[in-house]
Amino acid sequence: MSKALICPSILSADFARLADEVASVASGGADFIHVDVMDGRFVPNLTLGAPVVKSLRAATDLPLDCHLMVEEPDHLLESFAKAGADMLSVHIEACRHLHRTVQQIRSLGMRPGVAVNPHTSFASVEPILPECDFVLVMSVNPGFGGQSFLPSVLEKVRAIDAWRKSHHPSLKIQIDGGIKPTTILEAREAGVDWFVAGSAVFGQADRGAAISALRAAL
Ligand code: DX5
Ligand code: ZN
Repeated sequence: MSKALICPSILSADFARLADEVASVASGGADFIHVDVMDGRFVPNLTLGAPVVKSLRAATDLPLDCHLMVEEPDHLLESFAKAGADMLSVHIEACRHLHRTVQQIRSLGMRPGVAVNPHTSFASVEPILPECDFVLVMSVNPGFGGQSFLPSVLEKVRAIDAWRKSHHPSLKIQIDGGIKPTTILEAREAGVDWFVAGSAVFGQADRGAAISALRAAL
């Protein structure tokens, strides 16, 4: 099993103090910075775009893991590459030509991921997995931080984990939504490698202690 990586989501950070917020999780042991990009259409909420990613790039050496919750995101891919995104995930439910989108992400020099909503099945995502570096399994309905973990998605994680052993051993499984010290272990046992945590990290005063508590629960 690969090393478990912790990816704090800045959705729960103070957007007026982003550089300090990112520094607090970097010194606290974060592995990636998870950046939630919401368009107000695919999800009801509206957050940020490539200009903020460019500023984050100047503020941290940690990999920037950008999660696009955006309808038809193709027109944004180049701007995120130029801004310095390292990983870029797009939703299977939001892309009409997903294979082309994933290939374009890779050709722009970013690591491609495909995100799947809780209701989207393993069978729907399986055909695109060979093209991906990672798959992001949503364990809440996307759009907001602080929601409760949906354990029903773990069956899909187990199916992906079983599939990758014979088809794509380097594929990473990321989970996003409701990850806390009380939920992280069951996700790990199902096969998750990368753990996004928003409120469980940025909602806590001591970010280093919050990240340590997640690792300690594994
Ligand atoms: C939700 C976002 C998540 C969010 C998770 O749509 O994709 O990354 O920040 O927040 P928590 O960890 O609080 O559930
Ligand atoms: Zn996210």
